[in-house]
Amino acid sequence: MQNLVIAPSILAADFARLGEEVTRVLAAGADWVHFDVMDNHYVPNLSFGPVVCEALRRHGVEAPIDVHLMVRPVDRIVPDFAAAGASLISFHPEASDHIDRTLQLIRDHGCRTGLVFNPATPLDCLRYVIDKVDLILLMSVNPGFGGQAFIPGTLDKLREARALIDASGRAIRLEVDGGVGPGNIAEVVAAGADTVVAGSAIFGQPDYADVIDRMRARAAAHGRDGS
Ligand code: DX5
Ligand code: ZN
Repeated sequence: MQNLVIAPSILAADFARLGEEVTRVLAAGADWVHFDVMDNHYVPNLSFGPVVCEALRRHGVEAPIDVHLMVRPVDRIVPDFAAAGASLISFHPEASDHIDRTLQLIRDHGCRTGLVFNPATPLDCLRYVIDKVDLILLMSVNPGFGGQAFIPGTLDKLREARALIDASGRAIRLEVDGGVGPGNIAEVVAAGADTVVAGSAIFGQPDYADVIDRMRARAAAHGRDGS
């Protein structure tokens, strides 16, 4: 399994001081910036667009920016995020009319690709595009809001996705997103996740380094499924 990546979701950050917040959370040991794009169409909420991604790059953020598109349609906005400095662009298969073509479009614009699966969405389409996917993101909440409770059924789905990745022999990252923090990171890593999104669990705390260190320690204490 690949090294653990902790990707704080900026949706939970203080938007009045976003540049400082991102700089601070990366200095506290976070690896990626999880960038939750919501369009009030595919999900019932509205967040931010490429201009904020570009502003973070201009502010000096060099860490990977993991753009999670909760938008429909998807294709129109892909080139804008690539130009704005996205490192990886993930999208929900239900939001694209042509999943394979959207994956190719993201790659054509120089970004790594991800597919995002809602709690009730099966992993079936991966069978046909696993060679075009750099990351699989499992939603452990229904998309649209931070601060929701982790859906326990995600653990079995993580095991299912981990088995698919291992069988593919490809270095695909397995990310989990929603309701994750120090209290359950051990379970999600033991179930096979190697990339963890956390919004309120991190930005809701006064000491980012302390909570990130605690998350790493608990993840390290539990290998996959007790290994
Ligand atoms: C929800 C987003 C998640 C969310 C995570 O639609 O995709 O990334 O912001 O927030 P927490 O960690 O607070 O559940
Ligand atoms: Zn997200």
